[in-house]
Amino acid sequence: MPDFSLTPEQESLRDAARKFARAEMAPKAAECDKTARFPEEIYRKAWELGLMNLNVPTEYGGSGLGALEQCLIVEELAYACGGMTTSIIANCLALEPILLGGTAEQKSRWLTPFCAEYHLASFCLTEPGGGSDAAGLQTRARKDGDGYVLSGEKCFITNGPHASLFTVFATLDPSLRSKGIAAFIVPGDAPGIVRGKDEDKMGHRASSTSTIRFEGVRIPSTQRLGSEQDGFSIAMRTLDQTRTPIGALATGIAQAALDHSARYSLERKSFGKAIAEHQAIQIKLANMAQAVHAARLLTWHAAWSIDHGHPSTLESSIAKCFASDAALRVADEAIQIFGGYGYMRDYPVEKLMRDAKLTQIYEGSNEIQRIVTARELLRQYG
Ligand code: CAA
Repeated sequence: MPDFSLTPEQESLRDAARKFARAEMAPKAAECDKTARFPEEIYRKAWELGLMNLNVPTEYGGSGLGALEQCLIVEELAYACGGMTTSIIANCLALEPILLGGTAEQKSRWLTPFCAEYHLASFCLTEPGGGSDAAGLQTRARKDGDGYVLSGEKCFITNGPHASLFTVFATLDPSLRSKGIAAFIVPGDAPGIVRGKDEDKMGHRASSTSTIRFEGVRIPSTQRLGSEQDGFSIAMRTLDQTRTPIGALATGIAQAALDHSARYSLERKSFGKAIAEHQAIQIKLANMAQAVHAARLLTWHAAWSIDHGHPSTLESSIAKCFASDAALRVADEAIQIFGGYGYMRDYPVEKLMRDAKLTQIYEGSNEIQRIVTARELLRQYG
């Protein structure tokens, strides 16, 4: 029988994240959403509390947490604000390629000073010409003496306007597709980096997103991760790790939508009684609760697979896909329970629906997750 109980350390991490999320993030969530403000003071506090570089080992100054601990924290943060959570965990995504593909020297050279102070990093894979077909990326890495020159444009880059470090995927030969891609560590002040405007998004408005253009950015070969052919595998293995916390992020949004709905249904009256007494509402709440529980369990299972060193491509894709679909469905039902009020910005649930939507798109659309799931599944039968 699996044991779902948390250790005292895991409970205390979750409680610390909950306290921070409810005291610092929640009170500013509506304002940052409305004005699309990037609340740097909150991100700095998250860094001070060790809630930022969760996956980086303590020897390099990170929090050194396992996947399950990361998920416990991310769910709590996302309960308060999905957008802020996206910005807080973007370092985990951006630094994972260094953890997976870096030498001991590269890790200590780049991670240690980065984690010693508040810094943001961005993962640069997606391009304007296509996000799903990662092997078809067009940003070029041209060999130049003992290094490379990067040219091209990346888009939808979380924390792009603020990042002081980028992990960048670029091709030495586009005709080789996945076999031609290399990964690079690029400092944010490298000459030739051009940051685009902060995008005006539907949700996750407390998070910054921009294009990053590389105009002949010179990178020494000591900043290449792995071999010239390793970039695609590093990108895919990174996403195998980081899609699971996106499942947790979506679960946090869904739990918030369920809690708001249950409370409101006990207060709001129609036909002479609280709407919670109507079976139509009870059935909605029950379906929402089922979705939240299933999303959390799938996410925890994927995290358990990662923590036990099992292959986790399938589990991460299923968790991210299911939890994000569940989050949108639950947020949609929350608006329905709130009725006309749910559609108003004065109430919290319409934000949850806008924030939930992105979780179906980023870190690989849910169509890509289903392709990954089907491939992994069929491999077991073929
Ligand atoms: N781990 C290790 N290697 C892997 C792998 C994995 N998970 N997945 C694939 N590979 C290897 C394959 O084994 C194959 O190697 P060989 O050629 O040696 O056999 C090679 O990589 C090519 O794999 P595929 O043939 O499967 O490649 P493909 O072109 O068919 O594409 C894909 C696969 C799954 C569709 C991939 O392109 C993909 O995941 N696309 C989505 C990209 C994505 O998630 N982007 C999100 C960006 S992050 C973000 O959203 C930003 C943000 O700020 C939040």
